[in-house]
Amino acid sequence: MVTELLQTDNEISARESINRAVATLQAGDVVALPTETVYGLGADALDPVAVEKIFAAKERPHFDPLIVHLPHKNAYLDIATVPDGVKHTIVQLVETFWPGPLTILLPKKGIVPDLVTAGLPTVAVRMSEHPVFKRIAKSFGNPIAAPSANRFGCLSPTSAEAVLDQLEGKIPLIINGGACSRGLESTIVRVSPPENGPKPVIEIIRPGPITEDDLKKFGKVVFAERNTAVEENSPEAPGQLQSHYAPRTMLRLLEKPEDFSPEPGKKYGLLSYRGQEKDGYIQLHEWDEIRVLSPGSGRVAEAGIRFFSTIREMDDLFLDEIIAEPMPDRGVGKAMLDKLRKASS
Ligand code: TXA
Ligand code: MG
Repeated sequence: MVTELLQTDNEISARESINRAVATLQAGDVVALPTETVYGLGADALDPVAVEKIFAAKERPHFDPLIVHLPHKNAYLDIATVPDGVKHTIVQLVETFWPGPLTILLPKKGIVPDLVTAGLPTVAVRMSEHPVFKRIAKSFGNPIAAPSANRFGCLSPTSAEAVLDQLEGKIPLIINGGACSRGLESTIVRVSPPENGPKPVIEIIRPGPITEDDLKKFGKVVFAERNTAVEENSPEAPGQLQSHYAPRTMLRLLEKPEDFSPEPGKKYGLLSYRGQEKDGYIQLHEWDEIRVLSPGSGRVAEAGIRFFSTIREMDDLFLDEIIAEPMPDRGVGKAMLDKLRKASS
């Protein structure tokens, strides 16, 4: 299969590309699309034959459910139900964060194929704020199932080139919408009615760009240690999902500089948070390569935007191992630490 890469850098090319993307979705095929978080591999969420092509292209196991992207804010009501005890909170979250990088788990309606949710009773919904994605979703009209456009277990792509690297020859079309402005996958939450206080519980299933701080005025925020719904669904050992986000090169989060004992002759690269000696990592070793996520005083938001693209760049440097410095455990720092821990295990 030839993979076509279409541009959106001016209004004429954008219009042409958007029409082609919509026609591809209407024909029951898959297309890689830009979102504000990472690129997604989209197909008509209501057409199981089209959705199956996503699993095939990604070599994704069928126990891992997909996120469904909506054409407009209220479209969640077409594919999901909202339990009485959480209605108010769901409306607040939708009104505050959509379009944007927040995914909400809700009980699914029968119209959603079981393939999309891997047989789970819930469906993950969000609305992207990427201008090109929004136009495609609106013009297509149906919800679009779209997981990240990487091969299963590999790095999420934050550019069209990164998608091409992983999926060339496996999908017909990629729409280039530029580098992703957020750079990290959406925050996934589940909302439950108040337990023994006045506030509903907002459980963060996957940390991402919408942070604990952003969510806490809408409920009591707790972090799920792991995605148990999907793990229980898996026929394999739960550990399989832990190997997510891994580059080809070995990658290890070095929680404390003291724990580093390099093997002679091996080439090590340092993925530094802000490149400062006082953090104790730069001078630890004669690194073969160093990349810095947010040089200077260090900002987690900037590091988040550059996270996947920097790891992808380091993956091409023929290193034996990438050693990652921890970033602060706050804001989107939590999402990066989560991914680094999973890649390390
Ligand atoms: O930012 C994003 O969310 C990107 C862009 C493309 O929208 N998408 C994305 O999709 O990251 P994916 O498939 O790579 O990650 C979705 C995660 C999976 O780990 C899946 O297990 C979880 O969401 N998920 C989906 N539906 C679920 C459900 N019903 N219950 C629990 N977890 C679910
Ligand atoms: Mg993914």
